[in-house]
Amino acid sequence: MEKSGKRGKLLNAIRLELIIARNILKSLYYNLRIHFSNKSLSENHFNYWSEPDHVNFAAFQKIESLMGGKPQVIIETGTSAWGTESTRFWDAYVRKYGGEVWSVDIRSEPKKRLKFQTSRRTHLTIGDSVEFLASDTVENPTIVFLDSWDVDWSNPKPAAVHGLKEFKSVLPKLQAGSYIFIDDSPSTLDYIAAINQDQANEYLREEGVLPGKGADVLKMLEKGGVEPIFHKYSMILETPDKWEFKDHS
Ligand SMILES: C[S@@+](CC[C@H](N)C(=O)[O-])C[C@H]1O[C@@H](n2cnc3c(N)ncnc32)[C@H](O)[C@@H]1O
Repeated sequence: MEKSGKRGKLLNAIRLELIIARNILKSLYYNLRIHFSNKSLSENHFNYWSEPDHVNFAAFQKIESLMGGKPQVIIETGTSAWGTESTRFWDAYVRKYGGEVWSVDIRSEPKKRLKFQTSRRTHLTIGDSVEFLASDTVENPTIVFLDSWDVDWSNPKPAAVHGLKEFKSVLPKLQAGSYIFIDDSPSTLDYIAAINQDQANEYLREEGVLPGKGADVLKMLEKGGVEPIFHKYSMILETPDKWEFKDHS
C-alpha cells in the first residue's frame, strides 16, 4: 500500500516536470511568435494557449482594449491552472506594455507549472486570495481579475460568497477608472450547461441573479446602482468615483 502511494507520488512529480519542460519550450516559441505578430494579444493567446471560440475570448478582447496599451498593475486571484491560462495573458501584456502582475493561488502547483515561463514583471504568490487582496502587496491596482474559488454549478453559493469576500477585500484599494473583471458570472442561462439550467433557474428565483463567482457582487452592486460595463460569460466593472451602496453587509 505504502509502496504504491510512493510510486504514485513519484509518477506525479515526473509528470509535472515533463509538463513544465514542454511548457517552457511552448512559451519560448510563443514569445517569439507574438513578437512578430500583428494580431491582438487576446487573439494570439486564445489561438495558442486555449481555443479561438472559447467562451471567455470576448471578455479578454474587451479588457485588452480597455487596458489601451498602457502599463497596468494587474492583480489576479487563481493562477493559470485549468482555466484560460490567464496568467500567461497578463504576463504577455506587461512584457509588451509595462506594469506588473501579482497572482495568488492557494495551491503551489500553478506556480510550479509556470516555472521559468513568466517575466520578472510577474509575481506568483501562494496563499488565500481574500487575505492577499487585503495585504499591503496589493497597492493601487488598475486591473483586478477575480477567478479563484471554482463554481460548482450544482452548489454555486460558496463560489459567490467567496467572490464577494474578494471584492470587499480589494474595494478600499480601487481607484476610480480601475477595472474589476470577474470570471464565471454568466449574464444569461445560455452560458450554463443544460444539465445545470434548472438549478440555475431556481437560484435566480431565490437570489434574483444567476449563479456564478460574481453573483453576490452583482446583488451588492444593485444596491449601489452600478452595472457591469461588459457582461457575457464573465463581467467587467469600472470603479466609479464613489461607490454608493445602500447596505454594505
Ligand atoms: C479556475 S482556476 C484559475 C484559472 C486561471 N485564472 C486561468 O484562467 O488559467 C481557480 C484556481 O483558484 C485557486 N483557489 C481556490 N480557492 C482559492 C483561494 N481561497 N485563494 C486563492 N486561490 C484559490 C485554485 O487552486 C485554482 O488553481
